[in-house]
Amino acid sequence: MPPPFVGAALLLGAGGRHEALLAELGRHGVAAEVAAPGRLWTPSVPARPCAFLRQVLPEAMELRAPSISAWAEQLSLHLDLPDGAPWRLHVYAESEVEAPFRSGARAAHTARRRDGGPARSGSSPGPTAAWSHRAALIREALLGVLKARRRHLLRALSDTEAAWTDSESLVQLLLVAPDQGYLSITRAPAPAQIAAWLSVLPAGIAVPAEDPRPPSRAYTKLIEAERRFGRRISPGDVGVDLGASPGGWSFVALQRGAQVIAVDRSPLVPELMAHPGLQFVKGDAFSWRPPREVDWLWCDVIAAPERTLALLVDWLQAGWARHFVVTLKLRGEMDLPVLDQVVERLGGLAAPWWMCQLSANKGEVCLFGSRRLAPAASRSAEPGEGHVGPL
Ligand SMILES: C[S@@+](CC[C@H](N)C(=O)[O-])C[C@H]1O[C@@H](n2cnc3c(N)ncnc32)[C@H](O)[C@@H]1O
Repeated sequence: MPPPFVGAALLLGAGGRHEALLAELGRHGVAAEVAAPGRLWTPSVPARPCAFLRQVLPEAMELRAPSISAWAEQLSLHLDLPDGAPWRLHVYAESEVEAPFRSGARAAHTARRRDGGPARSGSSPGPTAAWSHRAALIREALLGVLKARRRHLLRALSDTEAAWTDSESLVQLLLVAPDQGYLSITRAPAPAQIAAWLSVLPAGIAVPAEDPRPPSRAYTKLIEAERRFGRRISPGDVGVDLGASPGGWSFVALQRGAQVIAVDRSPLVPELMAHPGLQFVKGDAFSWRPPREVDWLWCDVIAAPERTLALLVDWLQAGWARHFVVTLKLRGEMDLPVLDQVVERLGGLAAPWWMCQLSANKGEVCLFGSRRLAPAASRSAEPGEGHVGPL
């Protein structure tokens, strides 16, 4: 289906689905048309944060090519980029890995821990696996064409997941059939509104980590949040893990060399309780206060989302943590208004910050970012303010 609006943006919904994103856009009066399951057309990129938005393809144009070499030729002809400036290339097939990964990943993790067996991939080949392979071949073929004819472009190609810089362009090809796709070129400097929504991950999908050692699969959420944030927990950081048991997030932080204060009503697994870098506090996450400012607030407590948001706001207003990763547990569509409250309340308190459903999230949304250096609780929140960088 060709774009229904001039200069339309193609939006990819979280989890390979579009329903939640459509509902979110609808709440804010943004026109959207379903392009196909998991994909929406909008007249332009949304002006406000959307938790269920995975990736944006601004000004997407439909392309067709019968073979891999024809794809490479066509793409090379369309690559009109600033000379010598860095650019990234994301070539991917529709709903590559996300949907297959979800089924049974948690059970598989538990079984691996029990068996002590080797890590198996949590994903199985989905119906589009062949197209994913084709996407990889198209990318390779394009690089071959550039090597032969446009070496200066190839030299400027950067292969990184780091946060966007103003000087970088992004070229995306979404393959929706072997001979059909959408090309989107975001030239540097991307307007802030667009840069705010571009994921550094192809298709905005994080292939979840696979490690049998952490005591719960929840650890994948913290690792993914770090990647999307573009900030990794560093050796020597001090962090508070609220709702820490059995210890997946604490495990990740300790692995990074951080010191962890773990707060929960229940203890963590014995290996972590005995870890010299971990201090366990048996208590209530909502009333516990840190002894001093810490580098990180991590919070994965199961609670009503309004309550968790209020906790985060308290921490930011008080200046207790510099950075945060917080899970909001949603109870379905009825909780969409809470996401509006997130935008209103975090706008003045955090920058940059993000709200998104992670690939590793199910009925949850993750908030992550940094406290504004000069806390400005009284400043009026502007929708989208502070959203600079990738999702
Ligand atoms: C989803 S689990 C956390 C999993 C953890 N992030 C991990 O990686 O293993 C939620 C935890 O929140 C704890 N919890 C729920 N309400 C709490 C409260 N008011 N105070 C402290 N802990 C709480 C539960 O005991 C439970 O261990």
